[in-house]
Amino acid sequence: MCGIVGYIGKRNAVPILLYGLQRLEYRGYDSAGIAVLEKEGTKIIVEKQVGKIKDLHEYLWNKKIEGNVGIAHTRWATHGPPTIENAHPHLSQRGTIAIVHNGIIENYLELKESLEKKGFRFSSETDTEVIAHLIEDEYEKDLLNTVLKVTKKLEGAYALGIISTYEPDKLIGVRKGSPLIVGVGKDENLIASDIPAVLEYTKDIIPLDDNEIAVLTAKDVKLLDFQGKQKEKKILHVTWDISIAEKSGFKHFMQKEIHEQPRTIADTITGFSSQDIEKIFSKLKDISRITVVACGTSFHAGLVGKFWIEKYAKIPVEVDYASEFRYRDYIVDDKTLIFGISQSGETADTRFAMLDAKKKGAKTLALVNVVGSSLSRESDFVLYTYCGPEIGVAATKTFTAQLVVLYLFALKLAEYRGLISEKEFDQKYRNLLHLPTVVESILKEEKEIKNIAYNYTKADDFLFLARGLNYPIALEGALKLKEISYIHAEGYPAGEMKHGPIALIDENMPVVFIAPKDSLYEKTLSNIQEVKARKGKIISIATKGDKVVKDLSDETIYIPKTKDELYPIVSIVPLQLLSYHIATFLGKDVDQPRNLAKTVTVE
Ligand code: M6R
Repeated sequence: MCGIVGYIGKRNAVPILLYGLQRLEYRGYDSAGIAVLEKEGTKIIVEKQVGKIKDLHEYLWNKKIEGNVGIAHTRWATHGPPTIENAHPHLSQRGTIAIVHNGIIENYLELKESLEKKGFRFSSETDTEVIAHLIEDEYEKDLLNTVLKVTKKLEGAYALGIISTYEPDKLIGVRKGSPLIVGVGKDENLIASDIPAVLEYTKDIIPLDDNEIAVLTAKDVKLLDFQGKQKEKKILHVTWDISIAEKSGFKHFMQKEIHEQPRTIADTITGFSSQDIEKIFSKLKDISRITVVACGTSFHAGLVGKFWIEKYAKIPVEVDYASEFRYRDYIVDDKTLIFGISQSGETADTRFAMLDAKKKGAKTLALVNVVGSSLSRESDFVLYTYCGPEIGVAATKTFTAQLVVLYLFALKLAEYRGLISEKEFDQKYRNLLHLPTVVESILKEEKEIKNIAYNYTKADDFLFLARGLNYPIALEGALKLKEISYIHAEGYPAGEMKHGPIALIDENMPVVFIAPKDSLYEKTLSNIQEVKARKGKIISIATKGDKVVKDLSDETIYIPKTKDELYPIVSIVPLQLLSYHIATFLGKDVDQPRNLAKTVTVE
């Protein structure tokens, strides 16, 4: 996830671009840069800095760059580490085109190869640079037509901002899969990834849809589809207060991040295969055991991963708290894989557990969200989730993305070990593609879940119960509730309830069951009966249409039917919303709960 902004008008573009970048910093803050067309329009000046927008700001302070047309970018690194070379904007070989990009060009290696054959030299490791060279290569007297031609060659998701010395009176914005809006001003127009970036200059907005292009001059905005057909769209007048707009209209970052999951799940599914699969799996196929080390939510993801890896790759998996693993006399050899899972890639317990095991001869693999984080640099191999920055302290979108990667990891490892065919992998990969729609439909039930949440704000304790693959989801549901609402909650395997926790149940105890119609459904049903017999309040997450569970429960939240093994990825979503709404009803600081930090860099 990155932020882009562009300006064309009568004023100096530089301060306007910097202001816009500041409003988009939540989208990424690894590096930032601007490109401005000099007044005569014959040269594009590009300036970049690694770090936050304020570093770029300070760097530009005495530079006196002026121009009325420009683009800017704040980066959240995906392809290539955060360096000046990889920072945007990117220039074409002869400096005629400058481009900023948010998204991923999936076929960039192919495009790069053919451009290199034509003599183009690349100065970055990004997937973006190909676009600048392609436009320069294809340009024939008409920038818009060239951009239209180039979009046909690009696969993946992108929002682009483009300026050129060929036609210095134009700023072009393109959207396919990544957000882009046009800000319509008086004698000036803007493009941006999000509304806050333009609010200071205009409240008249045109949000672009996928496969749309905007051609901006100082006086005019022309909208077209990818076939070049002109479109008319209504201008939206926003009355937003800037602080709300930064959360894109959501009350908290946590709520926004819960709602981002259809996109982050989709991005992580497609992002998986863009990684160095051959290098990773050819080296890992002969390992004999795996130990997952992780903390908090990432630990819960590891517990689900264990089920998938053992089922498909047939390798024994242990899952250990990183803070415990390190201090015991664990046994590893060069056939052991230590698999560290960490959103931030900076959690001290996880890092040091991995470093220690590596020293003792184990192979190490990190699954992280933050590109360039310590864990990703210190491990032998890295896999990524593609979620963009997660700002809310409670992990939400990164958890579901971790599950997606763990599922694909298990299948890919199985394929490399000859246990499933490529065709079977593809089939299961395709099954994942409906998950964003499933999650979308659960998010539509938010009002209903909010109503349920209201009834439980006075509870002092909660139990979360589930079986099999969904048992870690019970743990994660309890953690979510604890950390943001400060209500005591415990997660248990449902079958373990009768060995102790059942003593807690009375009419004041809400018990959340994750009870989808999977192979353990009947067993879970018996546990629901046991709680009902003791007058516990039952809140069930059940498969749509399941009347039996509904009749036994005080509250039922339906989730759509999916493959048994994929339920964990969707059943956590209503629990995230339930916790979120209980905490907001209680007036808690949801994004920054007391005593917690997003990244725990102390042991
Ligand atoms: O960045 P990490 O995934 O390594 O963080 C691990 C835990 O600190 C983290 O999951 C924590 O439990 C969250 N607050 C959970 O919402």
